[in-house]
Amino acid sequence: MDGDATAGRLASEVPPATATKALGWSGRDGRATPPALGPGAREDASRRFGRGRVDERFVGTTDPLRDIPDHTEVDHEAVLADAKVEAVLADLDRDLVALRTVKQCVREIASLLVIDQLRRSIGLESDRPTLHMCFTGNPGTGKTTVAKRMGEILFRLGYVRKGHLVSVSRDDLVGQYVGHTAPKTREVIKRAMGGVLFIDEAYHIYRLDNERDYGQETVEILLEVMENQREDLVVIMAGYKKEMDRFFSDVPGLSSRVAHYIDFPDYSAEELTEIARRMLQQQRYRLADDAESAFQEYLELRIKQPRFANGRSVRNWLDRVRMRHAMRLFEAASEGRRLTKRDLVTIAAEDIRKSRVFQAGSWGDVPC
Ligand SMILES: Nc1ncnc2c1ncn2[C@@H]1O[C@H](COP(=O)(O)OP(=O)(O)OP(=O)(O)O)[C@@H](O)[C@H]1O
Ligand SMILES: [Mg+2]
Repeated sequence: MDGDATAGRLASEVPPATATKALGWSGRDGRATPPALGPGAREDASRRFGRGRVDERFVGTTDPLRDIPDHTEVDHEAVLADAKVEAVLADLDRDLVALRTVKQCVREIASLLVIDQLRRSIGLESDRPTLHMCFTGNPGTGKTTVAKRMGEILFRLGYVRKGHLVSVSRDDLVGQYVGHTAPKTREVIKRAMGGVLFIDEAYHIYRLDNERDYGQETVEILLEVMENQREDLVVIMAGYKKEMDRFFSDVPGLSSRVAHYIDFPDYSAEELTEIARRMLQQQRYRLADDAESAFQEYLELRIKQPRFANGRSVRNWLDRVRMRHAMRLFEAASEGRRLTKRDLVTIAAEDIRKSRVFQAGSWGDVPC
């Protein structure tokens, strides 16, 4: 086929080549062109394939690999502008401290989807890439936060219809009586369709040592859905690395359905300080000069104490420090002191030093 002969025809918002095939027309039944898409079918196609542009010159081409001239150019700028991928990646870089390899991996997945969309725009179809993922790391290392962003990227690139995140754990999936588990699991999957199903501590679903555990049923349904409904659902399993490795070796067929394994390392003290700085700024607070060193001391102690949870511990610290700051100001106001904006935004060293973390040993294992 001579692509140039039909050049200049309208490009559609919907990729008809892809859409018509998916809607039942294969292009191999002898007709030169696919049936026109009605408004309903167009809407359906747009829902399923996103807003990627299509080059209509090639609609109906039976073998694009052979028939489309190799020098045919594709409009990558249109796809990038439409999906605003760069903006989402830049937001990720800006909002999240460290996580270099995680960000790199997100960028690779985004690239794969952009190129996939460009290929589809000229009828070069291939199977949709499998995008189920496994996020491993200790608590508070950013797994849920990145999963949310991932949903947004997958939506912008037309991989999923909605891009929302449904976050669940064993109790949301596994029932307690015979016959409860399958409907429970299917209900969760239904809610997650068109977005990301995020399964926290996924290894708790399945207990190998208990043959009568209902979790087995959930695993079977998940395996089936991960294989057969992957065009509109991305499953992300998250948890500790060691437990996750064991889970994958206990459940045959699971690791082959997961395409990306991303490890979230613990943050260094400097990175946690930067996380705190950004959280303070987002909440419109600042540290007094002497509060900076108080925070460093707090962090050093807190990291060594039980249940330290990276970014989550920093967030919890901020919640509690705001409380102590508020109490200090409230008491000052009750004593007749006039408060200024400076008072309202400044966290003082004493707000930090009143933490139980500085009184080691006397408060059990729950620092505050
Ligand atoms: N790299 C980061 N930059 C900025 N904030 C971060 C970063 N990582 C984590 N946080 C913050 O730390 C908190 C906990 O993060 P998140 O819930 O994503 O961690 P998680 O790995 O899902 O933890 P858990 O395993 O406990 O569920 C959130 O408030 C998040 O905004
Ligand atoms: Mg989480």
